[in-house]
This record gives sequence, structure tokens and C-alpha cells, in this order.
Amino acid sequence: MCGIIGYIGNKNAISVVMDGLKRLEYRGYDSAGIAYFTDNKIEIKRRKGKIHDLESIVSKCNISSNLAIGHTRWATHGRPSDENAHPHRSDGIVIVHNGIIENYVQLKHELQSEGFNFTSETDTEVLCHLINKYSKNNPIEEAVRIALKGVRGAYAFAVISEKEPDKIVAVRKESPLVIGFGDGEYFLASDVPAFLSHSKEVIFLENNEMAVMHRDGVIITDIEGNLLNKNVITISWSPSMAEKGGYRHFMLKEIYEQPRAIADTIRGRVMPESSEVVIEEFGLSEKDITSIDRIFIVACGTSYHAGIVGKYMIEELTRIPVEVDIASEFRYRNPIITQSTLFIAITQSGETADTLAAIRQARSLGAKVMTICNVIGSTASRESDFVFYTHSGPEIGVASTKAFTTQIIALYLLSIAFGKIRGCLDDRTISMLIEDLLHLPASVENSLELDNEINNIAKELFKAKDFLYLGRGINYPIALEGALKLKEISYIHAEGYPAGEMKHGPIALIDEEVPVVVLAPSGRLYEKILSNMEEVKSRGGTLIAITSSDGESAKRLSTYSISIHGINDYLNAVLLTIPLQLLAYHIAVLRGCDVDQPRNLAKSVTVE
Ligand code: F6R
Repeated sequence: MCGIIGYIGNKNAISVVMDGLKRLEYRGYDSAGIAYFTDNKIEIKRRKGKIHDLESIVSKCNISSNLAIGHTRWATHGRPSDENAHPHRSDGIVIVHNGIIENYVQLKHELQSEGFNFTSETDTEVLCHLINKYSKNNPIEEAVRIALKGVRGAYAFAVISEKEPDKIVAVRKESPLVIGFGDGEYFLASDVPAFLSHSKEVIFLENNEMAVMHRDGVIITDIEGNLLNKNVITISWSPSMAEKGGYRHFMLKEIYEQPRAIADTIRGRVMPESSEVVIEEFGLSEKDITSIDRIFIVACGTSYHAGIVGKYMIEELTRIPVEVDIASEFRYRNPIITQSTLFIAITQSGETADTLAAIRQARSLGAKVMTICNVIGSTASRESDFVFYTHSGPEIGVASTKAFTTQIIALYLLSIAFGKIRGCLDDRTISMLIEDLLHLPASVENSLELDNEINNIAKELFKAKDFLYLGRGINYPIALEGALKLKEISYIHAEGYPAGEMKHGPIALIDEEVPVVVLAPSGRLYEKILSNMEEVKSRGGTLIAITSSDGESAKRLSTYSISIHGINDYLNAVLLTIPLQLLAYHIAVLRGCDVDQPRNLAKSVTVE
């Protein structure tokens, strides 16, 4: 996730764009850049670091311009560096891009063989050279149309050309793009807050729509060039509401971003034609994968819970034994690691001190280290042999949400890839697992529709002092995660437990005062979990079941129930997580807690 912005009009475009970039910084903050016209030439300033660092070089230039485009980056391809920062240039063509070009490797090879010289590690540079290639005899909008015929992926980009100094062309597919209308001035941006102080009149572009912006107006067409007549909408949000996309908190926004985040994690990692996982994404060779005799997964907090989900998937789909450890425990014991051990660190931030120490220890003992991480260029990604990026975009809310579900997707993809190479999965099973995965973003949307229902349940329960969360099998770590979400943002004591273990102790806690959230999707362990629910009910506990649409018995036993549309046992773990995130969120809001910055917590824990 990155932020882009563009401006054409009578004001100083450089100040408008720099100001807009600051308001988009929540979308990415590892590097930033701006391009503007001066004397009919395009000047680019870009730099690794925050907008503030870019500002220090831009302010020295003391230049004014009437057209500029800018970018704030959240790296997806290529580490944060000055060279990888946008805008990118190919001769007189300059571009800023948010999204992922899936087939960039193939396009890069083709362009290199035609003599185009690449100066960055980004996928974006491919777009820039392609548009340059077709712009020799065409206006930019036409060059963009031709170029996009060979491009697969997600994009919102803005492109300018030295040959046409009075024009910005912007296109959208899968990544957001909004056009703003002022008095003789026009804006484009990934998100409304970028220009809300100048204009509240906007048009949201849909997929495969293009805006051609001139000094005297904006023409909107479809990608074939057919004119579109779109309605201008007036925005009523305040700038800070707009930054959160109209959501009250970043956490809620990030919960709602999960369909998009999951789609981005999958993007380019499965081959749609052959229903296969792209094994190269994991960096290991087939020989490496075949020779793994044991996997250690090490992480902290929510990432640790994703690790336990991973254990269930990897062991079942690849038959490789998996141990899951909390990083602060792993580093102080004497783990048995050999050169055939694969060590997987899971970390959203890539900066968690205990996880980093565990990575260093595993490497020193000879293990190959793979990190599943959300932040490109983070310490963990630099210190690992292989990295699988989740691409879920910046997570601002302290409580992890979209990072967790995308970590599960990374582990699902890994299990399928390894299972195939190790001969544990036949082609039919693999294509079923992938088909299920491709349905997941839409099913997550369905789970999000439960929001109101969950808010109503939260209203009944928010005064409770203790909660229990129960799950079995792969849903046991989801119970742990549900309890963690609740306790960290609402400060209610909550425990996650394997449901079958309840009668060995925690059952003593149950009375009318303790809500018990039970994960009861239909499947292999459904009957077992029903028995556990009976045990709670007969002791007067208040049961909240999260079950499948056909989970009639679970619904009958419960005081409150929520139904998901299940897909398969592995992906249901993701679908069950959504209601738990929403329940924790609504309870915390009802208790008046600071949801995005709960007390005593920090987004990344860089001390031991
Ligand atoms: C909980 C949460 C934390 C993190 C943990 C690890 O919502 O966010 O428990 O999961 O601090 O952080 P990363 O994944 O950045 O290593």
C-alpha cells in the first residue's frame, strides 16, 4: 500500500503535493518523492525515509510549479532506498504507482532485451518503460492504454510527460484513486484526505477507468477511451475522519481492509492458469524443500498465534513435523537445530527484539531462516535467508488484525507449495485448495457484514469482567487470538483455551458472569465442541457460538450465535477471526477505551 497524489492548477503544486503527502503518510512511510515541471522539464526529488526527510531537500529548491505528482511508499518490490523511491522516470515519462504488477519479471526481461535500462528493483519501473515505449508516436493516454494491455496486476498510477507539460493521466485497477475538483484546479490521490483542505467535490474512479487532467478540466473515460459521465460526490468528512477512510478507528479500518489485504497477499503467488502456487516466492529450491526434516516457527503475540495455525496446516498438508515457540522462550533454551531444519520467523513489523534474537540464534546453529513479514527492508527481512512478504499494507492500530489473517494466508500458500513438492498433495487437492483461497476475500466480506449483529452482542456483554474463548484443533489458536484481542484493547481479563482441556481446570471459573465464546464451525470436531458447550451450559455459562450457517445444534445451545459461511477447515480459521476482532473492537469502544493506542502497548516491541 502506497499513497499517490497529483495536482494541476494555479497554486504552487509543490506545496499542495507535499502537504497532501503528509496526509497520506499513514499509507506508507519508508520513502517519498515528488516530480514537478520547471522550465518544461520534469524535476524529480525522492528519498528514503519519511516525508519530513523529503521536505528538507524540496524546501531548499525554492521553486514554484503548476503541476506535480508525488508518492509515499510502502515497499512491496525492492527495499526502501533512494533508487526504489518513486517517482520513476523513463526518458521524458515519469510515474508514481500504488499497487503490484504481477507479471513484472517477464515484462522486465522483455524490456531489457529491447534495450531499456533499469535503475531500481521495483515493479513500477516496468510500467514506466512500457509507457515510454508506446509514447513515441502517441499522446500519453493512448500510450498508457496500449501499455496496459500487457500488464497484469493492481494499480493506481499517475503519469506525466515532458512532451505534454499540461497533462496528468491517471488510471485505476484494484488500487484506490479519487479525483478532486476545485476552482480551476484538479487533484488526484489514493485517498481523499490528501486534498480535502482544497476540495470536497470528488469522483471515485472504478476499475479500468482513466482520468486525463488538463488545466481546463478533467476527462474521464474507460480504458478503451469511451467517455464516461460520472457523478461528482461531496465529501462531508473532517480531514482526520478521512484519513481513517471514514472509520472511527484505524483498527476498524484495518479489519475492513482484510478482503483487499488477503487478495494482495495472494496476488502473483498463484498461477491462475494452472492452479499452482508459485514456489519461487518462498526462495527455497525444490531440493531444499525436500530435505527439510523439521520446521520451527517462532514469533511473539498475534504472530505466534498465526504460527500455531501454521503448525496445523503444515503438518497436515506436508507431513513435516513443526514446533512452534514464543521467541522469548526459544532464545533462552537449547533447541535442537540441524542444517535440515527450516526456521520460520513470523513478524508483522520485522523489528520485534525477541524474534530478531531468535533468528540470529537459529542462523548461528545452522538452520535456514525464512521470515514471514509485512515490512519490506525491516531488520528481520534483511537478516533472513528468505522472506515472504504479506503485502497487507501498513498496520497503524496497535492491535494486529490484517497482519494476522495475511500471515495465515502466507502459511497456507507455503503448505500447499511444500506439500506438492514433497508428494503429499495431488493436483486435484491442490486446485481445490487454491480455488477455496480465491473465494476467501469475498467470504471475508460476508463475515464483515456481521458487524451490526456483533455490535448488538457487544452491548449485552461489555460489562463482563472475564471472558473465556474455546476452540479445538486449528481453531484453538484462533481462540487464543480472540482472547488476546479482547484483553489488549478492552482491558477485560480473557483466556483462550483448547475446549477439551476446559474440564482440567478452567471449568471452575464458569458461572453466569463469565461469557464463553466458542468456535464451533461444522467439520471434523463439531460434535466434540458441542459436548464442551453442553458442559458450559450445564454450569450456567453464557455461550456465544461462532458457527457455520448449518450449525443448528451450536446455535440452539447458545445465548448468542454468529454464523459464518465456511470454506474449508484451514480458511475457516480466517473467517472465524473476523467476528472475534469485531467483538473485541465493539466491546472496547463501549468501554470507552483508546482502541488504536491501548495503554502500556507499542506497535513494535524493539526491546527484550
Ligand atoms: C497484538 C499484537 C502483538 C504483536 C507482537 C509481535 O495485537 O499486535 O502481540 O503481534 O508484538 O509483533 P510483530 O508481529 O511485529 O513481531
